[in-house]
Amino acid sequence: MERKRLLSGMQPTGTGALHLGNLEGALRNWVRLQDQYEMYCCIVDWHALTTRFADTQGLADASRQVAIDYIAAGLDPSKCAIFLQSHVKEHAELHLLLSMITPLGWLERVPTFKEKRENLGLNEEQVSYGLLGYPVLQAADILAYRAHVVPVGRDQAAHLELTREIARRFNRLYGEVFPEPQALISDETAVVPGLDGRKMSKSYDNAIFLADDADTVARKINSAFTTPTKIRRTDPGVPESCVVCQLRRIYDPEGYRVSWEEDRRGERGCVQNKRELIEILNAALEPIRARRRELLADRQGLERILTQGAERARAAAADTLAVVRATMGLR
Ligand code: TRP
Repeated sequence: MERKRLLSGMQPTGTGALHLGNLEGALRNWVRLQDQYEMYCCIVDWHALTTRFADTQGLADASRQVAIDYIAAGLDPSKCAIFLQSHVKEHAELHLLLSMITPLGWLERVPTFKEKRENLGLNEEQVSYGLLGYPVLQAADILAYRAHVVPVGRDQAAHLELTREIARRFNRLYGEVFPEPQALISDETAVVPGLDGRKMSKSYDNAIFLADDADTVARKINSAFTTPTKIRRTDPGVPESCVVCQLRRIYDPEGYRVSWEEDRRGERGCVQNKRELIEILNAALEPIRARRRELLADRQGLERILTQGAERARAAAADTLAVVRATMGLR
């Protein structure tokens, strides 16, 4: 039986380095999914340009960093196609065609458009045509593969709904080409707290990266927020409000309970909690670091993986585009 298709996407922001939030919130799940689906893992570098158009110098390297972290986390290039969006021009052609059938009002109403304008403090000249069209490009990423399933965080639900609306509109106008892709919303309980207690995010500067070495992890954990009312070792802790205890629960799912109870009873201090977490985290990250080192030492090998990933993706997307052109009457 043919496997269903899955398309995942991640934007290469900043240097491209992925953090524990990306690992627990997305990558670990993707690694499981690669055995169930025909999987396409797209690094959406064109999407990065929607806000990063004036600063493109580091973008190519950032995309490679994402690829390195994908593979280091366990995505297997022999199982899933790992590729850059900009290497598969079919995304651009489909984006253009879909842009013709997408009402402007749908795009102006997308909540992330308003949020980006406000949160990033973009002035009128920085809000480009491409930024407004961000969700159409995302729809093209997904529909180019006639994907059935798209694993995303809750923040992407509106984009997925728009993709489904665009697919329906295309199917109604020209003929049934696209399945309506289902969002596979990741479990919000897996949200990893950052060092300051907010959600872990590159933009909050509170993240632990897969690329961080053991000393960096130690330094960051030693600076992490703990229970504010626990000053002395013997003060009762509140593990629910302590970043160090929360991370312990994620990375020591068996053993954390005992440490939490001792913490609550004032039988252990934050220093011990941090020392133990540093050990646990570094042990968990070491295999990922080892794979990162191998990949970094063989840059040609990485380029080969990306070239082959793009070839596989292009074959699938080209099939779809042939059907799309024919159905639309473009000959
Ligand atoms: N908008 C997504 C995000 O910010 C990234 C993305 C682009 C994407 N194209 C995609 C995600 C296609 C899933 C499928 O996370």
